Amino acid sequence: MWRILGILCLVSAIQGANILYMCPLISPSHHFWNEVLANGLAQRGHNVTILSHDDIRLKHENYTLVKFEGIYEALDGTFDLEDSPKMSTIASMDRLFEGVIAMCSMDLETEGFKQIWNYPKDFKFDLIIWDANGGECMYPLIKRFGNPPVVVVSPFGLQPSISDFMGHHVHSYSPFMIFPFTDKMTFWQRMFNVVYTNYVVYYRKYFFLKKQQQIAKDKFGVDMVDDFQALEKNLSLALVNTDPVYNYPETYPPNIIPVAGIHIQPPKPLNKAFSKIINDSKNGVILFALGSNVKSERINPQILELFGKCFETLPYTILWKIKGGKDLILSKNVITESWIPQNDVLANPKTKLFITHGGALSTQESIYNGVPMLVFPFFYDQLNIAAKIAERKIGDKLDYFSMTPEYVCGKINNILGDERYTRNVKVMSDRARDQQNTPLERGIFWVEYILRHGTAEHLNLVIRNASVFESLNLDIMCFFLAIIVVPLLLIKCYCCKRCKKDKKIKTN
Ligand SMILES: *[C@@H]1O[C@H](CO)[C@@H](O)[C@H](O)[C@H]1NC(C)=O
Ligand SMILES: *[C@@H]1O[C@H](CO)[C@@H](O)[C@H](O)[C@H]1NC(C)=O
Ligand SMILES: *[C@@H]1O[C@H](CO)[C@@H](O)[C@H](O)[C@H]1NC(C)=O
Ligand SMILES: *[C@@H]1O[C@H](CO)[C@@H](O)[C@H](O)[C@H]1NC(C)=O
Ligand SMILES: *[C@@H]1O[C@H](CO)[C@@H](O)[C@H](O)[C@H]1NC(C)=O
Repeated sequence: MWRILGILCLVSAIQGANILYMCPLISPSHHFWNEVLANGLAQRGHNVTILSHDDIRLKHENYTLVKFEGIYEALDGTFDLEDSPKMSTIASMDRLFEGVIAMCSMDLETEGFKQIWNYPKDFKFDLIIWDANGGECMYPLIKRFGNPPVVVVSPFGLQPSISDFMGHHVHSYSPFMIFPFTDKMTFWQRMFNVVYTNYVVYYRKYFFLKKQQQIAKDKFGVDMVDDFQALEKNLSLALVNTDPVYNYPETYPPNIIPVAGIHIQPPKPLNKAFSKIINDSKNGVILFALGSNVKSERINPQILELFGKCFETLPYTILWKIKGGKDLILSKNVITESWIPQNDVLANPKTKLFITHGGALSTQESIYNGVPMLVFPFFYDQLNIAAKIAERKIGDKLDYFSMTPEYVCGKINNILGDERYTRNVKVMSDRARDQQNTPLERGIFWVEYILRHGTAEHLNLVIRNASVFESLNLDIMCFFLAIIVVPLLLIKCYCCKRCKKDKKIKTN
């Protein structure tokens, strides 16, 4: 009898769970990535409430948006794209931390946040999904809804701090995601990588997180705010935008699930206009589309002009995503559109090359569709992704400070004139497609796994609670150092004394 009841409970929990999906980083690409998972869960019959800055793109009846309203408008113009290439990595990371804190304080004051906070006292969320790239000052929401299990997601890859709180210490061979390094580093690069990665982890833990905690205490009172470090050690599971094909082979503990490529949709047929542009191109198409954070129209006009000059000399059709492209003086083979169905164009066999800013989502789509890339990176993970693409010879990268029409065209002609690039990316495409299940199925499985079991504690490495000393074996190394070095020192002292004695005897 109890067993049957148990099974019934289990089934009902799986069918229609109430899920709160927190999407606190202000970024259209994060929102898009998260929406794919949210939508997948809604299709499974879960009631998903997403809290985000962006509007819904994938509509579904079981899927509700509550909006952090007005933040994009408030931030408009405070971020100058042209600053980024001139900024040091360390300065840009500090800016990111500061930005995330400022944004979190702003989010707390939105009507959207208040709406969720003021849900009826007995309203129950069975699970919370949290994009762990911000919003920490809103952690008290977890307590507010009775501490349901929390699944962490990261469209921004396996951040060292996520690794750290999930109980996995970062390896020297994993390049920090905003460095232009690959996994093949020199000794000094590795040294820098380790030191800086750890700096970021500890800075976040002891300064950033403390600040977020203080903001939360000021807003909700001490009773609602548990220690954030302890709270993060209690997060159930992490679904992360990484895997050995798109990123690098790395070790993950069982509570970190790689789901890179989750956002890639099967291609839809192109509409008539795009279909015609592509059919009419004699030698194929170059797609030029920067991201949602790095928009073409926000780039220095001199750079735009220089791209135009290069495109004049090419025998290909260039499909360029830019608003206000009609104002540019461009040759006939360049077609500008304010919106382009990027994934569907990449999936077309006539697409020869993708000029991209090097965002994770765009480059994954390009790899999936087997299209080589020319990366024009600006900040954060774009630098790291550009280095990876160049090193794997599935494309090349542009340096912001070397830009001339000849330089850009040289790179394009080099990629298109050497079939190795296309061959390499097609091999990667085959590998990315050949998986036991799709990344979305995997993501949904693990969310429902947590709904069924309530926890993933049994998947934690035992070192999740341990100190760095234990988890990196430093204590053992110290011990061995001690049992080797101490006797050696003793022997040396003893010998010295005898030497001196012998000398004394001799001289006497
Ligand atoms: C929405 O959820 C309900 C119950 O959870 C389910 O019966 C229904 O099929 C879902 N709707 C869609 C379109 O998936
Ligand atoms: C589904 O979620 C919406 C938005 O949060 C909420 O208003 C509604 O009550 C939920 N439905 C159920 C059956 O819990
Ligand atoms: C830790 O998470 C579990 C659910 O996964 C929850 O039941 C428990 O209350 C949490 N503990 C703390 C101290 O927040
Ligand atoms: C373009 O070519 C494809 C395949 O040859 C064809 O199916 C499609 O209808 C063509 N589109 C247009 C607009 O002519
Ligand atoms: C880590 O510590 C927490 C709280 O002290 C405990 O609930 C959890 O079981 C511990 N996890 C491991 C893997 O030891």
